[in-house]
Amino acid sequence: MTEQPTCRRTLLQGAALAGVAGLGLTACSGGGTSSSAPTSPTELGAADQIPVGGAKLFRDDKVVVAQPSKGTYKGFSAVCTHAGCVVDNVEGTVISCPCHGSRFNALTGAVEQGPAASPLPEVAVRVQGGKLVAG
Ligand code: FES
Repeated sequence: MTEQPTCRRTLLQGAALAGVAGLGLTACSGGGTSSSAPTSPTELGAADQIPVGGAKLFRDDKVVVAQPSKGTYKGFSAVCTHAGCVVDNVEGTVISCPCHGSRFNALTGAVEQGPAASPLPEVAVRVQGGKLVAG
């Protein structure tokens, strides 16, 4: 009788540890960038502040919003994929990172100049009542 609860407890502890380990791995693999950009809905202001064919940086919210064509919005994490600095400038369609000089395409998130090797991850952006909502 005493063995069964012990075995069950051991199994539960093992499962709990496995669960914690799983969560830890999940947090590590996605934590670098996805936890930095908005993951819960964040209002960014009027949608018409984004130039058509251009983009705007919302540095405090760590997101860049582009409008490749009228009424179509795309969001990207503003956290550089090289070493995690927050990008600091958007000029035309070029996003620049101040730390080591990486540049990204503001309309696609693609790397235009290293050392970053990966594109900026997309962030969901929608327009709600004329306002941009990211995350
Ligand atoms: S962190 Fe952006 S270029 Fe290194």
